[in-house]
Amino acid sequence: MRATQILISDRRLQRRVRRLAEAIAADFAGGEVVVVGLLNGSFVFVADLVRQLHGRRLPLIVDFMTVASYGAGRRPSGRVRLLRDLSVGIRGRRVLLVDDIVDTGRTLQRVQAVLRRRQPAVLKTCVLLDKPARRAADCRVDYVGFTSPDEFVTGYGLDYAGRCREQPFVSVLPQ
Ligand code: IMP
Ligand code: MG
Repeated sequence: MRATQILISDRRLQRRVRRLAEAIAADFAGGEVVVVGLLNGSFVFVADLVRQLHGRRLPLIVDFMTVASYGAGRRPSGRVRLLRDLSVGIRGRRVLLVDDIVDTGRTLQRVQAVLRRRQPAVLKTCVLLDKPARRAADCRVDYVGFTSPDEFVTGYGLDYAGRCREQPFVSVLPQ
């Protein structure tokens, strides 16, 4: 077995999440925000991000949507299925959509279209990682934590066939 190659350490993740929270709090100042996390991948990022948003005079509603874009492997299936919808309405509300990574962009494109139809007052998107080399669909991302190399990465919520989500760091999956 090859040693785990750490791409982003726990410390760098925490520092960057704090900076993202500062930027988001500045942009959204003055009212409530509905944070929409995409499950399963975003659960760790959302948990850290909302705690960094606490105390910044930004009342939050935190909710989740479950989508599936992958089969069990490293390649996206190309289809995005909505498995579980939000439990709150977002019409006229200010929404921050949060996902773990934007890869081809198909997931965010699809989810943004679904949310936009519900007529939120504001819809912004935040991802921890961006893999620009693989973009195939048009989607708008307002906040990016880190740019990722074109490798399959795991940890901090990101999985390989359901595994490795619990790693407190992001690493490159060995070939
Ligand atoms: P997209 O629709 O191709 O942008 O893919 C988005 C989804 O694929 C993300 O929400 C992740 O769940 C998953 N994904 C994309 N790249 C990776 C990766 O390198 N590791 C783990 N999951 C990934
Ligand atoms: Mg995901």
